[in-house]
Order: sequence, then structure tokens, then C-alpha cells
Amino acid sequence: VNRLETSINLFNLKAFYAGRISSCGIHIEGGRIARIAKETNLPPADRRIDCGGHLVIPGLIDCHVHLRDLGFSYKEDFYTGTAAAAAGGFTSVLDMPNTSPPTDSPQRLAEKMALAQRKAIVNVGFHVAPPSDPADLSRMRLNGAFSCKFYLLKPMGNVEVRHPDVLRDYLRECRRAKMPATIHAEDGLVIERQLAASSSAITLKRFLQAHTPEAEYRSAKAVLETAGVGTKVHFCHITSCKALELIGRARRKMRISCEVTPHHLLLNDRELERIGPVALTVPPVRPEMERQRLLVACQRGSIDVLATDHAPHSLSEKLGEDYSKIAAGIAGLETALPLVLTLVKKGRLRLKPVIEMLTSKPAQVFGIRNKGVLRPGADADITVVDTRRRFKIRASEFKSKAKHSPFDGWSCIGRPIMTFVAGRLVMDHGEMMANPGEGAILRPK
Ligand code: NCD
Ligand code: ZN
Ligand code: ZN
Ligand code: ZN
Repeated sequence: VNRLETSINLFNLKAFYAGRISSCGIHIEGGRIARIAKETNLPPADRRIDCGGHLVIPGLIDCHVHLRDLGFSYKEDFYTGTAAAAAGGFTSVLDMPNTSPPTDSPQRLAEKMALAQRKAIVNVGFHVAPPSDPADLSRMRLNGAFSCKFYLLKPMGNVEVRHPDVLRDYLRECRRAKMPATIHAEDGLVIERQLAASSSAITLKRFLQAHTPEAEYRSAKAVLETAGVGTKVHFCHITSCKALELIGRARRKMRISCEVTPHHLLLNDRELERIGPVALTVPPVRPEMERQRLLVACQRGSIDVLATDHAPHSLSEKLGEDYSKIAAGIAGLETALPLVLTLVKKGRLRLKPVIEMLTSKPAQVFGIRNKGVLRPGADADITVVDTRRRFKIRASEFKSKAKHSPFDGWSCIGRPIMTFVAGRLVMDHGEMMANPGEGAILRPK
């Protein structure tokens, strides 16, 4: 690994440091934060960077992204996906295994790591899919997998984890391997049956009648009843109050965490109807009442993590009449921070918890070492944010290959202006400064 030899002083900034926002400077050495102190007390450095009085926060961590590549590199690849991350202020991302081929064996995990190592400009870690040989779970854990993803909507790879007995066996194996289980909670067997009963194209209305909050709740309940005490469970993109209450109750006896996405905090079903398939994602955005409840849950601290579920597809895959055939997923890396900062400006969320849900919390949940906080000794993964900057989201300017978004044209207040990975400036006012391969492969502690 090429370590950064030069030292840097970041000055003229307000840092989110030790739970407070205070004026100070940051001294970086060898790719790590060496000192945080009053500017006048910093040691001299080879390079000085003026942060313009802006807010400096730990580099954002997204524990749920689909960087695709391999057979889906027309949708996104490790370079474009991590460039989108850097543009959005993210310095570390955890990639999902529903690729072509799926990441479901030690061999395939190793191949993905090698490819990402050549192309990525921010740090990348990996979730894996259930392997045909359950014993491979512990091998993949040792080789650096952050979790095993259980996609309960449709089969991923060869293993049918939607059947309770199969799910039970794999969750047990996860516990043995000390591997967290990451869950897409939707009752896929029931949803499939409901959609198959229709002989004509699936309208949005029919799609939403199948992908209900109930289906999310049933699926989450089945997982919690199946996973024994001691299995660490993380629920992806939770969308409804009922599932959240279930998770809240289970927290008392199990190690559980959950995430919410910016789109479920900002869009409702009427918005989906107006915007159309570009806003289609699974689980779908919900009625306004659920959206309001999710915001309240964030305010109360009942949600651990904000994750984008960055799920890029080509525009042609996002078009069509039959909602069961339209590719579900929204590219979120380049809009997440501006969107939630705008919610903060409007008083719907508070700044400190939002930053924590994007930094220290995902680091804690998945055991990402030395990241997610600004402190001496931590990796110099740092994001500089202009919290007053007003701008319009322009999907055509995304670094992601998916140049469409339900938020296209939305006005935001707040934007990342510089992103540092291990002390290297990778994004400067929207410009990509890094070469492919400068990101590191993450492994759990
Ligand atoms: C994701 C994708 O496209 O891979 N799509 C989505 O709508 N969220 C899969 C997923 O995370 O469920
Ligand atoms: Zn020094
Ligand atoms: Zn999902
Ligand atoms: Zn996803």
C-alpha cells in the first residue's frame, strides 16, 4: 500500500470532534490524523489547506451500496461507483453481493477484492451472499467479509434462503462464523404469489398492493424468530413503523441494528406515482404517514444508520409499463448528504445524530476499524462540507453511470466540497483528484 508521506495541515475550519463542533485545525501525517488542536498549536506541515471556515466531519461511511461491476459493469463499476462516493463525501462503502456472478464463495470474494483494489478511489468492503457450502461462511469471514446478506425477496445465487428451514441453517452458520447477518426484509414468497396471480402487466397500484409494510414486517418477524440469541442481525432499508417497533422490542435480547435510506425519508407513494419508475425501489417508498414516522424515529434515535442503498441501473432498465419488470433501485451516493442536510436546515432532523448515523454508527455496527470519527490515530478519511451552499441536484452531472434520480432538479442546502481518503484529496469541489486504485480494501476488525 502506498502510504502518504507528506504531512498536511487543514486550517480555518469547524470540526465535528469529540461530540462537539469547534474551531480548530487538523494535522495529518502518514495518512492518519496526528493531531487536532488550535491552529496555532499545530506542528508545521509540508502542505496547508484552507478549509474556508467550513464544517469538517469524518469521511462518510455507507454500509449499503451496489457497486456492480463484473457482468453488471454497464450499470456501474468500481471506479464510477467510488467516484460517485467521493463526490458525495463518502470515504468508505460496503458493497452488496447481488452481482453477476454473485459474491457467494471465497474465490468470488477474492476476485472482487482484487478488481476493486485496482479501480476504487475510496475504501471498499464487501458483504457476501449465502454460499452453497455453508462452511464457506467462516472462510469468507476470515478473508474479510463484513456480513452475509439475506435477500428475502428473490433468490440470489443458488441458495433459497426464503424457506424458513434453510434460513435457520444459514443463520446458525453465521453465528458460528461470527458473521453478522444483513437482511432485506420483504416476504418474497408471498409477494411472488400475489404478483404471479395477475395475467396482465403489473401496474404501480398492484405492485404496491404486494410490496406492503406488512410484507416487510412478516419477513423481519420470521428472521427474528429464526435467529438465535447471539446472531448479530442488521436490517437494511427499514420503511415502516411496525417493523421498527418489532426491531425496538427485539433489541432488548438480541444484537440488532437497522438502517433507513434518504429516499424513504423524503419520498412518499404519491411522489412515486408522479415521478414514475425512476423512483421505483424495493421496498417501495411508503404513504406520507409512514414517512413522517420514519423521520420521528430518526429524531428519537431508534434508527442506527443512514445508508443510501445506492442501486444504479441503466435508464432503459428503469422504463416500462410492468412494475414487476422495471429495475428497482435509486442511485443515492451523490444526493444523500445534501438531502439530509436540507432536512436538518428545515428542522426535521438534527445535525449531530445525522452525522453519527453516516459515520461512527455504521463503523460500530460493522466493526470498521479506525474510521468514522475524527481523533488522533484515526485514518485521515475526512469530508469538508459547505453547509450553506444552495444548489440544484443535476443527475446528468453524476459520476455514477446512472444519470437519473427521483431528486433531479431538487433544491438543496449543503454540499460536500472536499473528500480526503487516508490524507489524500480525492474530490475537490466536484473534481475527481484520485487515480483508480487509491482506495483500500476494508476488512472487519
Ligand atoms: C437493489 C438492487 O438494485 O440491487 N434494488 C433496490 O431496489 N433496492 C436491491 C436491494 O437492495 O434490495
Ligand atoms: Zn508532523
Ligand atoms: Zn434490499
Ligand atoms: Zn440494496
